[in-house]
Amino acid sequence: MDLKENNKFLGAGVLFVATIVFVKLFCSALVRRSRKRLPPTVKALPVIGGLLRFMKGPIVMIREEYKKLGSVFTVNVLNRRITFFIGPDVSAHFFKAPEAELSQQEVYQFNVPTFGPGVVFDVDYSVRQEQFRFFTEALRVTKLRSYVDQMVMEAEDYFSKWGESGTVDLKYELEHLIILTASRCLLGREVRDKLFDDVSALFHDLDNGMRPISVIFPYLPIPAHRRRDRARARIADIFSTIINSRKRSGRSEDDLLQCFIDSRYKDGRPTTEGEITGLLIAALFAGQHTSSITSTWTGAYLLRHKEYLSAALEEQKDILRRHGDKINHDILSEMDMLYRCIKEALRLHPPLIMLLRYSHSDFLVKTKEGKEYDIPKGHIVATSPAFANRLPHIYKDPDSYDPDRFAPGREEDKAAGAFSYISFGGGRHGCLGEPFAYLQIKAIWSHLLRNFEFELISPFPENDWNAMVVGVKGEVMVRYKRRKLSIDN
Ligand code: HEM
Repeated sequence: MDLKENNKFLGAGVLFVATIVFVKLFCSALVRRSRKRLPPTVKALPVIGGLLRFMKGPIVMIREEYKKLGSVFTVNVLNRRITFFIGPDVSAHFFKAPEAELSQQEVYQFNVPTFGPGVVFDVDYSVRQEQFRFFTEALRVTKLRSYVDQMVMEAEDYFSKWGESGTVDLKYELEHLIILTASRCLLGREVRDKLFDDVSALFHDLDNGMRPISVIFPYLPIPAHRRRDRARARIADIFSTIINSRKRSGRSEDDLLQCFIDSRYKDGRPTTEGEITGLLIAALFAGQHTSSITSTWTGAYLLRHKEYLSAALEEQKDILRRHGDKINHDILSEMDMLYRCIKEALRLHPPLIMLLRYSHSDFLVKTKEGKEYDIPKGHIVATSPAFANRLPHIYKDPDSYDPDRFAPGREEDKAAGAFSYISFGGGRHGCLGEPFAYLQIKAIWSHLLRNFEFELISPFPENDWNAMVVGVKGEVMVRYKRRKLSIDN
């Protein structure tokens, strides 16, 4: 054999080996693809079956399917695949994943016409992160201290208008008080003192413009959306006037509005009037209904469970003994029993029943039983505080109201690890207003416990599953009588 022939053989050999290697790699990729362990799928009629199951009540569906399929499963809703992660083991990924893997922007787009352009879900993640930094700074302890003084003033003023005794719808009353407090602490003195009725009416239209249909078609030309858009434009005008007046006069106030006016992006750019307005609307949407619903549930449970009412009253007496009748941030922070009563009401009734993300890349999730699933890019990933907060392997007797489950020694929410209690979400996008919400609800309930006796006279309330932010259905009628809690009674 000459050299030329030798080379020919060598070339053919290399080609042969390369072909084998390529075929092997290709086949193993194919096998890997076909071995993708997709989560089990909810059985339903084609096309609209999943939607019908979903509309009948997402929590009912989750309860049924969790029992059959386990902690990870997919439901097809029209052309969408929604994959549920139930329980702390699997939802850890949901809460901790970086934005490049699981993002909020696509699934929470429907908020854009309400919050307005240039803020939150209308901007890139890098800008949104900076805007959430403005929230974090505006809700620091130093700021919370002054908000608490305003919360206490609002509560005292509001309840001073009640008579010696009477009957009220607690839900209605607390909703109103919380709108007033939110106006004072978040929107600012100008709105609270002068423009309250106008701005409340506009926020009402904005609120009513957020319908279940708006989630899928946020710009559908329906009357509710048209009213929303008119209200949004009017709110922008009002805040533009207020912001300009504050800037011109150099006046500074202790409220969220001022914090947003003073906020600066990393490159030194100040916030625009439009951004400030949008961020305030976002704050009100995040905090108002959620807090008023939670304060109503807290009251309903305290009035039903006399043992916890007594424990909360004893705590107030103890605090009265040590601090007298004054209330401030640090004194509210000592109210552990009241804290647990609120936390337990919120465990049973989280107003945000479903949290969503959009998957940007394939990823793997492992259940506590050791099963592994590949979650494909393009799935919507969901978790449900309303369901996960009642898992029996985490919470003993999960449907019962038992604030002591959070007491030292039991701490059921911590025993099962992070993400066992998700009423405020957690991880990367955990609620930034949690301390504000607790302070506000504590300020209201410590005032009520110290100044009134109550009796629940309507049946114990139920969830209003039809609302976007799941609230309390119907009226919560209570009879009240004024009395001063004293350390001796
Ligand atoms: C009881 C009252 C409240 C409840 C139950 C609640 C619940 C939640 C939940 C579940 C999330 C996470 C959403 C997700 O992961 O998709 C969240 C996020 C958020 N909340 Fe709250 N919230 C409450 C009060 C407030 C208040 C009073 C404010 C502001 C004043 C606020 C501001 C925010 C903000 C800015 C975020 C977004 C955080 C981020 O994405 O990084 N919340 N809240």
